[in-house]
Amino acid sequence: MQIAQISDDLGYESYQISVYLCPMEQLLQQIDAYKKEVAAFEGATPDAAEEFRIKYLGTKGIVKNSMGEMRKVPNDRKKEFGQLLNDFKLFVEDKYETLKRTNSQLPTPNSQLIDLSLPGDAVAVGTRHPLNIVRNQVVAIFRRLGFAVAEGPEIEDDWHNFGAMNLPEDHPARDMQDTFYINQLPSWLLRTHTSSVQARVMETQKPPIRVICPGRVYRNETISARAHCFFHQVEGLSIDENVSFADLKQTLYFFVQEMFGKDVKVRFRPSYFPFTEPSAEMDISCLICGGDGCNICKHTGWVEILGSGMVHPNVLDNFGIDSNKYTGFAFGMGVERITQLKYQVNDLRLYSQNDVRFLKQFTGVV
Ligand code: PHE
Repeated sequence: MQIAQISDDLGYESYQISVYLCPMEQLLQQIDAYKKEVAAFEGATPDAAEEFRIKYLGTKGIVKNSMGEMRKVPNDRKKEFGQLLNDFKLFVEDKYETLKRTNSQLPTPNSQLIDLSLPGDAVAVGTRHPLNIVRNQVVAIFRRLGFAVAEGPEIEDDWHNFGAMNLPEDHPARDMQDTFYINQLPSWLLRTHTSSVQARVMETQKPPIRVICPGRVYRNETISARAHCFFHQVEGLSIDENVSFADLKQTLYFFVQEMFGKDVKVRFRPSYFPFTEPSAEMDISCLICGGDGCNICKHTGWVEILGSGMVHPNVLDNFGIDSNKYTGFAFGMGVERITQLKYQVNDLRLYSQNDVRFLKQFTGVV
């Protein structure tokens, strides 16, 4: 017989006599009640799931406690109750897994505080580097004239950079292109021009050849507003039967007009390069001052933009190209200089300082 003390609403104490239940029946009823409670448990937050775990599965939780009741069960019913309690435990564990799963699909508590109607944080969009923008423009112009793009290694051997280009050891013209050498391997260097790529093309291909070679090159220069220890070039090479200086000029006129517009004036000045004969440097009228004279054009009204010439027969012979049958022209320009004129950049160091105030001015330019 169980007597429980209860209070009614008025505060009077009274006694209620409940029906007698043996401990096993009590346990059965209790577990039944717990099961209903568990089934009805709702909690869509990680906190609620944790609360559930502590209440039912914790070391002092309901499942453990109920298991403890086993000692009251007589031996002949232990198996039956053992099964029952085990089922109860599995039932609770199953519920706990479901709660956890539901929670993992929910946003975290913090994100529940986010107001999705607010405008988002702007994502800064990167820009192409101005030198890459201009290199791509140069490449696109020559591709329209049928030039293919060729690339090669920046660490080069002496032969491809100098020897094959008619610049034998001790040639004074090497002084104009001093570079970085590797002590342990003196015949390896950082290429001084992408003519080395032209060398590699002549080595592997037969005329007709029409290539442009964009890439980074190195020179041993003191860093200043006008010079750096590396810069970028696009060099070009065209070899075929009957290629003449007129082809060279026409190709380069076309390039200048496409790059800088129809009003720009062009002039050629005789020059010297060991790998071309005759050689010429090409100037365009200064885009900064319109030819009136300024710092950029050193008050001459003209700016040099590239070197060029007819490929020296020695160079063709170096690669087994018959110089009696084939002729060719070559040219090479610095991308930094073209970019300077196109976008009026007056200090070369800006290109490699990674200053976003400079770089972001090219946002949207392709
Ligand atoms: N290779 C030369 C330089 O880097 C440029 C050039 C290329 C000149 C082809 C003439 C012909 O200075």
